[in-house]
Amino acid sequence: MHRDIEEVLFTEDAIRARIAELGAAITEAYRGDDLVLMALLKGGVIMLGDLMRRIPIPLEIELVKASSYGAGTVSSGRVEIEVFPEASFKGKRLLVLDDILDTGRTLKAVVDRLKARGAEDVRTCVLLDKKARRAEGFEADWSGFPVDDRFVVGYGLDHAGRYRNLPYIGVLKPKRHADDT
Ligand code: IMP
Ligand code: MG
Repeated sequence: MHRDIEEVLFTEDAIRARIAELGAAITEAYRGDDLVLMALLKGGVIMLGDLMRRIPIPLEIELVKASSYGAGTVSSGRVEIEVFPEASFKGKRLLVLDDILDTGRTLKAVVDRLKARGAEDVRTCVLLDKKARRAEGFEADWSGFPVDDRFVVGYGLDHAGRYRNLPYIGVLKPKRHADDT
């Protein structure tokens, strides 16, 4: 797996340090409130696991499955929400987590759905922000690192389902996505 990586963009240490900073900022923002951390499956669960342990206030977690990508490296432009919590979010403050903000379609669709379900306070946090690709005028409330318009893997981010378990974030060697169409 490691030999498929051309360049490491964010090391394990850099990610850990940034997650700690995000955790501290989020802790201050939600102290005294009923917080629900809601991670997008599958890419957001690594961040959920690390970030929640940096937020030492009472909180609950939820999972949502939404996808805008097929097996390739280019967004299909269509967002499907496949799994969505039954719980009522009345009186709760929701923070939705994802690995990367790309066009913004996925997070926007999830936030819109939560608001349609009566959630009044929904904010978002992503580890990476690929600003160049934004299509929806949607911005995250917190983001870890800006990233150039390159296809990255690791720390939850996949290529055709693989590489999510890399502890760092890197760019794949070109031959590794030569089979994309
Ligand atoms: P958006 O709806 O275009 O913002 O897409 C967000 C989703 O696209 C993320 O949850 C990722 O699953 C996926 N994605 C976007 N860019 C990358 C990338 O560089 N590597 C891996 N997955 C990506
Ligand atoms: Mg993905």
